[in-house]
Amino acid sequence: MVNRIETGIYGIDPLIEGGLIENSAITVVGASGTGKTTFAIQFVMKGIENGEQALFVTLEESPEQIMREAEMLGFDMRKYHEKSLFFIHLSGQNFKEMIEEQLPKLVKARKDYNVKTRVAIDPLTPVIWSSKDRLSQRELLENLFTPLKELGTVMATVEEHSKPGEIVGEDVLLPIYLSDGVFHLEYFPVGGAFNRTFKIIKLRGTNHSEGLFPYIFARGVGVVVRSTPIEIKDKEKEQYQQSFEKALENAEAMEVPSSLVDKIKNMKESWNYDYPPDEILDIILTPYRE
Ligand SMILES: Nc1ncnc2c1ncn2[C@@H]1O[C@H](COP(=O)(O)OP(=O)(O)OP(=O)(O)O)[C@@H](O)[C@H]1O
Ligand SMILES: [Mg+2]
Repeated sequence: MVNRIETGIYGIDPLIEGGLIENSAITVVGASGTGKTTFAIQFVMKGIENGEQALFVTLEESPEQIMREAEMLGFDMRKYHEKSLFFIHLSGQNFKEMIEEQLPKLVKARKDYNVKTRVAIDPLTPVIWSSKDRLSQRELLENLFTPLKELGTVMATVEEHSKPGEIVGEDVLLPIYLSDGVFHLEYFPVGGAFNRTFKIIKLRGTNHSEGLFPYIFARGVGVVVRSTPIEIKDKEKEQYQQSFEKALENAEAMEVPSSLVDKIKNMKESWNYDYPPDEILDIILTPYRE
């Protein structure tokens, strides 16, 4: 029986047999602003709430910045700072030396405490970039993940620089291979409630969901993944259909191209979202007004 721990992100645990396997390393991949740091904060705070300890390795932001961001989301990291929550700020340092010499010592020293630990590394990207050579990148990451996994369960974040639609950019392939699990966060900068999505790319030893799930930021609890099936009430469904009927009437009165009418008809058939289509229909028809 493997021991599983809660991720700290509402909605994910039910998708992954209850939680992450203890002493595994997972990577959260996402472009800027998708919520990687937020995931890391929630992950470590869950452990702390459960009486575990946490190590937060920051590379770009200072511990102060992280604690301030956490506060805005509704998490009080300060209360645990230097008690059960410890930061390592690796700004501008020699990662190689830190990882190969200091890290093993640190892990060895802490192992005697025998207390459950969570480790966050946010973001891992500068570590990868610290070497141009693929082989030394791989060695560096292995030397980082291996001792940290001995210490506890690891969540690393990686910045994604690929274009939308591409699965992942080159920078992230290495951490993907070397970690036990990968969560992919995507952000589509358009209006509406469904512009952020969560997907599990891999998770070793776990029978996980393969779906794409919208997630939202909720002050007080942080990111919430909407993993429960959405039920749209019949009354709402009827209203959405009426919105489409009205838009189609308008479209014909405005003599929009027939290809656009077809598009609206297609949307009408497949609209199974839990929010009204009015705003989108309005945007689509605006160029044809007057
Ligand atoms: N309460 C909130 N409501 C809506 N959006 C929020 C809220 N809190 C944070 N956000 C959004 O989430 C973003 C911050 O997420 P986070 O810092 O975790 O992303 P990140 O992936 O770590 O970004 P980066 O790559 O820049 O470090 C903010 O820029 C903001 O757009
Ligand atoms: Mg961040």
